[in-house]
Amino acid sequence: METKPQAKYLKDYTAPSHQVEKLELTFDLHPTQTLVTAQAKYLALEAQRSLTLDGVDLRLISLKVNGKSFDDYHANSTQLVLNNLPSEFELEIVTEISPQTNTALEGLYLAGGAYCTQCEAEGFRKITYFLDRPDVLTVYTVTVIGDQSMPFLLSNGNKIAQGTREDGRHYTTWHDPYKKPSYLFALVAGDFDELKDEFITCSGRKVELVLFVDKGNLSKAPHAMASLKNAMKWDEERFNLEYDLDIYMIVAVDFFNMGAMENKGLNVFNSACVLANQQTATDRDYHTIESIVGHEYFHNWTGNRVTCRDWFQLSLKEGLTVFRDQEFSSDLGSRGLNRIDAVMAMRMHQFAEDAGPMAHPIRPNKVIEMNNFYTVTVYNKGAEVIRMMHTLLGEQNFQKGMQLYFQRHDGQAVTCDDFVATMQEASKTDLTQFKLWYEQVGTPSLKVVTSFNEEQSHYVCTITQQNAKHDPIQSPLHIPFAIELLDKSGNTLPLIVNGESVSKVINLTQKEQTIVFEKISERPVAVLLEDFSAPVIVNYDYQLGELIHIIAHASSDYARWEAAQQAFTLQVREAVTKHEQGQQIILSSELLDTFDKLLREREGDLALLAELIKVPSFDTLATAFEQVPVDALNESIAQFELSIANTLNSALKDAFMACAENGELGHEAVSARALKNTCLYYLAICADEQVYEWLESHRMSDNMTLVLGALKAVLNAQLDSSATAMAEFDSRWRHDLLVMDKWFSLQATRKGDDAIEHIYHLYTHPCFDKANPNRVRALVGSFARSNPEQFHRIDGKGYELLGDLLIELNAINPQNASRMITPFMSWKRFDSRRQQLMKAQLERLADMSDLSDDLYEKVDKALS
Ligand code: TRP
Ligand code: ZN
Repeated sequence: METKPQAKYLKDYTAPSHQVEKLELTFDLHPTQTLVTAQAKYLALEAQRSLTLDGVDLRLISLKVNGKSFDDYHANSTQLVLNNLPSEFELEIVTEISPQTNTALEGLYLAGGAYCTQCEAEGFRKITYFLDRPDVLTVYTVTVIGDQSMPFLLSNGNKIAQGTREDGRHYTTWHDPYKKPSYLFALVAGDFDELKDEFITCSGRKVELVLFVDKGNLSKAPHAMASLKNAMKWDEERFNLEYDLDIYMIVAVDFFNMGAMENKGLNVFNSACVLANQQTATDRDYHTIESIVGHEYFHNWTGNRVTCRDWFQLSLKEGLTVFRDQEFSSDLGSRGLNRIDAVMAMRMHQFAEDAGPMAHPIRPNKVIEMNNFYTVTVYNKGAEVIRMMHTLLGEQNFQKGMQLYFQRHDGQAVTCDDFVATMQEASKTDLTQFKLWYEQVGTPSLKVVTSFNEEQSHYVCTITQQNAKHDPIQSPLHIPFAIELLDKSGNTLPLIVNGESVSKVINLTQKEQTIVFEKISERPVAVLLEDFSAPVIVNYDYQLGELIHIIAHASSDYARWEAAQQAFTLQVREAVTKHEQGQQIILSSELLDTFDKLLREREGDLALLAELIKVPSFDTLATAFEQVPVDALNESIAQFELSIANTLNSALKDAFMACAENGELGHEAVSARALKNTCLYYLAICADEQVYEWLESHRMSDNMTLVLGALKAVLNAQLDSSATAMAEFDSRWRHDLLVMDKWFSLQATRKGDDAIEHIYHLYTHPCFDKANPNRVRALVGSFARSNPEQFHRIDGKGYELLGDLLIELNAINPQNASRMITPFMSWKRFDSRRQQLMKAQLERLADMSDLSDDLYEKVDKALS
């Protein structure tokens, strides 16, 4: 490394030197020589005579100030500095770029036959020289010129002109009346099929909706369109927010680094987050599509109309928009299941990030590569912080705060402080201490001690807060702590403190707090941190019997699931000890009896039942240990599954047969399929003729949820039919790469000594492509995430496979490489042998001469 990449700090923020009155862009598209003409009007904000513009990988063709050629400038690899300028001037810059060779998928790129842009966070500077920062907002007019082979030439806003030129090429001009920062600019050019619809807004305006998909994919577009209309309606009803342009376009592309991007009026989506029909997509995919379509739509207000002052404020738009998309999914579907999803993401991924070398506050202070901060911390923990405000303020005051936020800041680029200030003002709630959530690092923990005083009828809870060791803010946080008390028969007890009845949400603000619940006549069972009311770890010595009582009686679905998770965690702690002592591992018969009963009763939501009886993932269980006991954990999970499969065999079969699954998409059918799949997964472990038949019929069905469920079960149980089943799937779906991603993911979780060799071999499969992030995530991402047995192999071959890939990806697509490195970030949580092996891979990367900023930042942090 010649010069180390430089970090930027939040504390160094300064306002921009210039304002941009308007920006006119013309793109003359060409695979390797696209000409970009940028005409802008700049106004100096102070007595500034020089202007520094961002620009990366650009070939400067010409530069004019006020229509005359100008040469008082110099450019380096990241900036263009112009000197001795008047205070107001027009700047015209022509640059040349090469979309075809842009495999980083940032800036303007040509992939899968279409031109497309990705500008967030700092990709616009790869298109032209500009003030590429979110607090410089301007009005864009964009002309796209292309060949007739690309009928659609799209950009943000409304179409204002189009025509054919003398050379036979055609053009379209777009005007976006709303000022926006450069990261929301978008251009797409290509040939697509269109699905058109319309939406009438609450004020009666007609909005044209268009969904662009690859030719031949129209039958997979209706679900995304329906989701969009649901999102538009929901935002009007719940947040009183109406869409503002006459047209809303979504384009699905095959090469994309993330899920989707909220560019004004022209969202660009990863095709995996748009396309679905029941033959090709699972019920889970349908849910994901709905939530991402909603997420991008909701950004139109939280992100676009009110945007971020600087990138340290990313959670201002992302935390809030994730909260909004979670509420959307919960209002339209099952609140309990959506909460379970959100908490699983927190526990499995966010807690790990917060405990590792990349730990950062939801508003980071220091960044080298901004792309590295689109994290579960900024997004998901950020959403939990918004949710806590919602809990503290209540829906009504929260909505009042939102209205004030838009009234005051529409059209502006603001900070997280501005957001909290409007919430505080509108609700008249003091959020001073609460704001520490924007600065603290690591997961706080709560130690809970309870006692019952029979004479006084008091139940006493003492709660002690502990900041994470590496948290620079070593002081108590404001934590909404929800609690439910259950009596012996499972009834919810009223909460009385100091003679008055209180709500179930207790405000923790001190290092230690004691709460005395009065008029409690028998020792209750406490449901602590109900609904995951704060992103914290609760330490409390639950007895298995108490957890089973909660599973049976708690009033919230979430709490019942949570108790099952805790029960598994208790059991796995015991199992690991037994494993170390060479004893046999089994699941407690009390817990098995509980599951047996639930399976036979089948009350309530069947999808919830399916989640309740699932053994938590390796990553989730691993969080219960200071040092991850890899082999004992793998062994415990396998033994737990075997216990369930054996003991509950008849209950599982009964449940499987009783679930009426009619092939529809409504919640009940989806839930029935979820439970059927979970039953089948266990049943395959000790399969008989009957089970083989079921597996076969699901595998051959035309519903992807069932097909995939059966395949997963067959592979997990390592049945003889595995190889044929996988080969058949391959030959049936080779024409559909998104379906093949499911196949690659399954291949990645294969067991056995040849698993790794097999993955290297799959790199040569005709459907595989290292330049496509979906393929890489499906194969290698799933391997590192969902095949702990092989990834953590003690011979280091699993780590080597990931190391090899990262070295290649560093050159192809640094953003994707940087996302794929995550499993190595927790290297210090493993035994010394595995630590050494993972560290060796990190050092291989550190030694590279052309390491990208993205990987540098993470490798450097991991090794220091
Ligand atoms: N703003 C996008 C979202 O949350 C995220 C995103 C899409 C993104 N593509 C990206 C972030 C590329 C960084 C780089 O909806
Ligand atoms: Zn977002």
